[in-house]
Amino acid sequence: MHSILVANPKGGCGKSTLAACLAGFYAFSGKRSALLDADPQASCRAWLERRPARRPPVAAAELLNGRPRLPRRTEFLVIDTPAGLRGRRLEQLLGFADTLLLPVLPSFFDMRAAELFLLNLEQSCQRLRLRLKVALVANRVREDTLAAARLEVFLEGLRTPHGSKIPFPTVLRSCQNYVTAMDRGLSVFELPPSRTLYDRAQWRPLLSFLGRAA
Ligand SMILES: Nc1ncnc2c1ncn2[C@@H]1O[C@H](COP(=O)(O)OP(=O)(O)O)[C@@H](O)[C@H]1O
Ligand SMILES: [Mg+2]
Repeated sequence: MHSILVANPKGGCGKSTLAACLAGFYAFSGKRSALLDADPQASCRAWLERRPARRPPVAAAELLNGRPRLPRRTEFLVIDTPAGLRGRRLEQLLGFADTLLLPVLPSFFDMRAAELFLLNLEQSCQRLRLRLKVALVANRVREDTLAAARLEVFLEGLRTPHGSKIPFPTVLRSCQNYVTAMDRGLSVFELPPSRTLYDRAQWRPLLSFLGRAA
């Protein structure tokens, strides 16, 4: 099983949207997909409730006595996390993850928060001796804006304390397709193909990264 944690202590950066889209994509691709909502705000739980019965199922995973409980033979587990995640709660969830996706918005506040989180993350991974793969995802980007260009330069330039580049597979545009998909319990892959051509193309490098990480 490949377990993907979507995390960033900053609220509103697109964690739940990314997590639901990803879990929906794996189900849509015929994989056994589960989604664990570790956020009391329960956005992903609400998305699961709205998911139409005729769509390929995404199982609702639960935390039971501090361990994820999920259907046997689950192939992909996606974990959505709350804002403000740090300390022991962060370390507990890191313990279940193979890969961490960090969505970042094109704003100074969000870039600064992401940088601080990466430092925290590095310390936690060292302390717990975890070998976690991390990738950055630029989200809600309005292309051809100065803010978009600044975010790309910033994310391209981020390094671990050892000087290694942090994978930055994709930029996701700001698009109503995500809002519509969430409202209907779908991923963007399950909206009409003609409408989502561009979004699906933007997801491709991220899905390839996750495929290599699995
Ligand atoms: N790529 C995107 N394009 C347009 N709206 C988006 C996109 N990603 C997220 N959103 C919207 O931004 C808001 C915050 O997203 P959400 O996934 O709830 O963030 P978080 O879980 O990090 O708090 C929501 O209203 C969501 O619909
Ligand atoms: Mg959320």
